[in-house]
Amino acid sequence: MVQGSTNLNTELTQEWLQNYVDDWVKFYRKHTTDGKLASYIPQLEKADPNALGIVIIGNNGMTIQSGDIDTTFSIQSVSKVFAFIVACMQRGMSYVLNRVDVEPTGEAFNSIMHLEMKKIEKPFNPLVNAGAITVTSLLEGKTSDEKLEGIFQLFEKILGHRPELDIEVYESERETSIRNRAIGYFLLETGVLESDLEITLETYFKQCSIEVSAEDLARLGLILANDGIDRMTGEEVIPTQIARLAKVLMLTCGMYDASGKFAAYVGIPAKSGVSGGIMATVPPRARDELLPFMDGCGIGVYGPALDKQGNSTAGIRLLRHIASHWDLSIF
Ligand code: DON
Repeated sequence: MVQGSTNLNTELTQEWLQNYVDDWVKFYRKHTTDGKLASYIPQLEKADPNALGIVIIGNNGMTIQSGDIDTTFSIQSVSKVFAFIVACMQRGMSYVLNRVDVEPTGEAFNSIMHLEMKKIEKPFNPLVNAGAITVTSLLEGKTSDEKLEGIFQLFEKILGHRPELDIEVYESERETSIRNRAIGYFLLETGVLESDLEITLETYFKQCSIEVSAEDLARLGLILANDGIDRMTGEEVIPTQIARLAKVLMLTCGMYDASGKFAAYVGIPAKSGVSGGIMATVPPRARDELLPFMDGCGIGVYGPALDKQGNSTAGIRLLRHIASHWDLSIF
């Protein structure tokens, strides 16, 4: 009897939350017109600029999904979080942190300015291109495919399937990679790269081209919400200390030069990519127990129209609304 009524309540709650999220997606979809598709990687300009979708997966087993959730897209900069995690798992955290710092830049994600003007010894953080390319050079393996293998294996463990590479995005990215090559040459001069520059860049372009869905991003966000532990099996998929540091980086640097505002107005660790994906992670929180997803959740958003900083215009607004309505902030 008690069990039955609990199930009924869960079903009602699910329906209620689903209706809310459907309404919010409908409402925020109009903000897709405030943004623009990324065009510096020509293949990304083929996306539907009005797309908006969200998947929320809770530790309590509840999943809410709404909008354009069947579209797949390249993971882009969200991959930087996992390249960092895999590099730390393979080489040790202090080894990686000796080669890349944990400071936000306040500059665009592909800025060269600091490398030139400050003559820094190591890039500012693993989530800007300079830091990400450095981290990629630390991945184990001689070829780009060997280097990528650690990331693929981690994804396979978390997602339950091995994602594909979007070859067209990869080629498009490689062909238009002038700025990343310029960053690569600055890094060569700094001496932080541990692999051949061509192999490093090829690995970086491929890792950014891994094809994912909003559901995949939600699952990746969920494992981070749980400090790297798979709650179903109890397995530590990512060492807890590394998962926590990844969340710190997401909070301080994950939304680029809009990270401060995102922390202030949304208040959850998140990482965006120029294809329009956002992976957000909501750790369990101790508040009013009637709030949804109290036990933590992962959120994946897809909305390819971007603002000036390279973040999904509608996606950010949708996340901000949900976070404030459900009090998801970690603060
Ligand atoms: O290297 C680049 O420019 C892209 N492959 C990734 C940039 C990115 O996703 C930044 N996102 N906001």
